[in-house]
Amino acid sequence: LGRNSFPEGFVFGTATSAYQVEGMAHGDGRGPSIWDDFVKIPGIVANNATADVTVDQYHRYKEDVDILASLNFDAYRFSISWSRIFPEGTGRVNWKGVAYYNRLINYLLKRGITPYANLYHYDLPLALEKKYLGLLNRRVVEDFANYADFCFKMFGDRVKNWMTFNEPRVIAALGYDNGFFAPGRCSKEYGNCTAGNSATEPYIVAHNLILSHAAAVQIYRQKHQEKQKGRIGILLDFVWYEPLTRGKADNYAAQRSRDFHVGWFIHPIVYGEYPRTMQEIVGDRLPKFTEDERMMVKGSMDFVGINQYTTYYMYNPPLQRQQQALGYQQDWNAGFAFAKNGVPIGQRANSYWLYEVPWGLYKAITYIKERYGNPTVILSENGMDDPGNITLAKGLHDTDRINYYRNYLTKLKKAVDDGANVVGYFAWSLLDNFEWRLGYTSRFGIVYVDYKTLKRYPKISAYWFKKLLHRHKH
Ligand code: GCO
Repeated sequence: LGRNSFPEGFVFGTATSAYQVEGMAHGDGRGPSIWDDFVKIPGIVANNATADVTVDQYHRYKEDVDILASLNFDAYRFSISWSRIFPEGTGRVNWKGVAYYNRLINYLLKRGITPYANLYHYDLPLALEKKYLGLLNRRVVEDFANYADFCFKMFGDRVKNWMTFNEPRVIAALGYDNGFFAPGRCSKEYGNCTAGNSATEPYIVAHNLILSHAAAVQIYRQKHQEKQKGRIGILLDFVWYEPLTRGKADNYAAQRSRDFHVGWFIHPIVYGEYPRTMQEIVGDRLPKFTEDERMMVKGSMDFVGINQYTTYYMYNPPLQRQQQALGYQQDWNAGFAFAKNGVPIGQRANSYWLYEVPWGLYKAITYIKERYGNPTVILSENGMDDPGNITLAKGLHDTDRINYYRNYLTKLKKAVDDGANVVGYFAWSLLDNFEWRLGYTSRFGIVYVDYKTLKRYPKISAYWFKKLLHRHKH
């Protein structure tokens, strides 16, 4: 396995997101996002940690880009913090924020690293949540489009790879169905959905996200693309769902899962409508696209980013589906299994949701190819947090991570050899960082960060990548 195992021009990078790595959450004019508010709730984040400083990439970006370059990577996927550019979400520009991204982008280019900029990674400006309930309100479409337009104008002369949203399914389901992520609506932890309505809100939010994405793509295409010559897409998380048995019911449970997960977004973008299963099950609670919207949404991507980490077995639950509509997860109504006949699906990582299942990556990529017309795909996230890796001594010796990457890249190569149009791969993540609810107790980096000194230490997986990506001179 090496760089040459992949087609000419295939891009290797690492991915991060603004809130997880930047820090400087309250400085240089940045406005708060919904996550700054959410993390203040006692008990929400492990050890009540915040991302006020995290790994301080805001000040240490040069060091991080130098590390990336020294490891032979080609590209860096980062996200722009909306509230660093527009502290109130709209209107007044924070020019210090603009200057930061200019510094980062310019330094990436100076070191020969291609920037991949994502416009939204969970961090809605808090002002918009307060003003009109954020993503629940159709007004967000225009505000997001204006923010996107501004970024294209400011950075598009140098950024040629744009992404609108990271994991809209996570935004809608975790933010508005189980309340696990900001803004934490309908959280079972807070009792019985006192804030929100999980039977409708996830679908409304997803609809607004799709329209926001499409509006941004339309602006990019109409105003900027011809001159800037870039491309634009969206980032979707895709767990592979494998039927537990060969039975019809389990097969349908697995298909329903794919539709409620990745189909929710890619189906409208490719075909202009929600998957049939969702239409049937969710019924009137699923918003409809007007004819104009359908035309704007259909075809609104030059590529799709797929974040792929893991695979589960799915079965049809023995109980009849509740007639009363309770929420997204109840609509989906499928059982998860992590073993079959007593054999675990894969080795578990530190995160409860992450099992190492390399063949699932092959199936996920092949599914996108076959069901969605072989679009241009970027494998935009892949990685693992190794258990017991908290100390420096243990953290650096991440042989489990090397095995994970080797096994997944081997399957990715097979998918590409078999005709999938995958053009790039991004490891999650360059550095250990703020892992949402798990705070700093979960380390996904190929570079270890000592959170006391903020010093960076490449793990042996980083050197593994360095060797893999070495270019042999001819
Ligand atoms: C995402 C992910 C990342 C996580 C990573 C590990 O939405 O892209 O949630 O932000 O850090 O997937 O869990």
